[in-house]
Amino acid sequence: MNRITYIDTNYGQINRNNVSFKANRRTYEQDVNDVSMGCYTGLFRGDINWRRLGAYILSHFNNKDNVNLVMFASSDGSEAYSTIISLLEAAGDRKNQIVKKFFPVKAYDYDREILCAAKSGLINLEPDDRMAMQMYCEDYQDYFTETDKSLFIKNEEKSPSARNVKTMKAKKVLTDNVRFVRADMFLKVRELDDEDGNTILMCRNALGYFENDKIEKFIKDVSNRLKTGSLFIVGVHDSVLFDVDSCLKENGFEKVMDKVYKKT
Ligand SMILES: C[S@@+](CC[C@H](N)C(=O)[O-])C[C@H]1O[C@@H](n2cnc3c(N)ncnc32)[C@H](O)[C@@H]1O
Repeated sequence: MNRITYIDTNYGQINRNNVSFKANRRTYEQDVNDVSMGCYTGLFRGDINWRRLGAYILSHFNNKDNVNLVMFASSDGSEAYSTIISLLEAAGDRKNQIVKKFFPVKAYDYDREILCAAKSGLINLEPDDRMAMQMYCEDYQDYFTETDKSLFIKNEEKSPSARNVKTMKAKKVLTDNVRFVRADMFLKVRELDDEDGNTILMCRNALGYFENDKIEKFIKDVSNRLKTGSLFIVGVHDSVLFDVDSCLKENGFEKVMDKVYKKT
C-alpha cells in the first residue's frame, strides 16, 4: 500500500509520502486505489494565473454554445469557486451568458468528508485565501457573506495560521453554479462525453500522488475521451515527481498556458 500521510505545505518538499491541503489540512485515510491521502487546497491557489485563465477560456470557447466544465479532486469547493469567480469576473457584462454556457461546474471528489464540507456551502478561509480573493474579485462580498456558523471537518489538522481561519458562506452565485458529487476520477474519466471539443477537464494537484503508470493510464484515458480543442488543466504538484508535460505532449496535447493543455 502506498501510504500518504500528513503533510508539509512547501511545494519543494513533496514526495509520494507527503500530500497537503491548505484551508483544510488534515490527515485521513481513504482506501481508494490503495492510496491514503490528505488534503491541501485554497481559494485561487497560486499555481495558476486565474485572471489569465478566465480570459483564455472565454476567448477559446467563444464559438461554442455550451461548454462542459468538469473538475476532478474538487476538495472543499475552493477550486470550483475560484473557477466560477474567474469566469464571471472575466465576463464583464456578459455574466448571464457565461452562466448558461459554462455552468454548473461538475465537481467530483472521492472523499465523503470533504464532499460534505463542499456541499455545506461553507468554507474555511485562511488569511492567504482572503488576500487572494481580494486580488481576484472586484468585490468579494459579491460571492461570500459573513456567517456565525463554523465548518467542522473531521480529522482536520490545524495549520499554524488556523487561528485566523474564518468560516464564510458562499453566495448562491457560487453554490447554484456547481454540483458536488462523489466519484473516483480514475473511473469517472472513462465516462467523459466530449461532444464537440467543448470540454474543460480540471484535475489539479491529485494525480501527482499516484504511481507513474497510473498517471500515464489516466492521461491516456483523458486523451481518448477529449476531442480536439478541449482543455485539460493540471496543478503544480502533478509535475513534481512526474513529467506531466512530456506525457501530455506524447498523448496529443499542446501547452497553451502554464498548467493548461489543449487537445490537438
Ligand atoms: C491535494 S487535494 C487537491 C484539491 C484541488 N484540486 C487543488 O488543486 O487545490 C487532492 C484531492 O483529491 C481527492 N482525491 C484523491 N483521490 C481521488 C480519486 N481517485 N478521485 C477523486 N478525487 C480524489 C482528495 O479527496 C482531495 O480532495
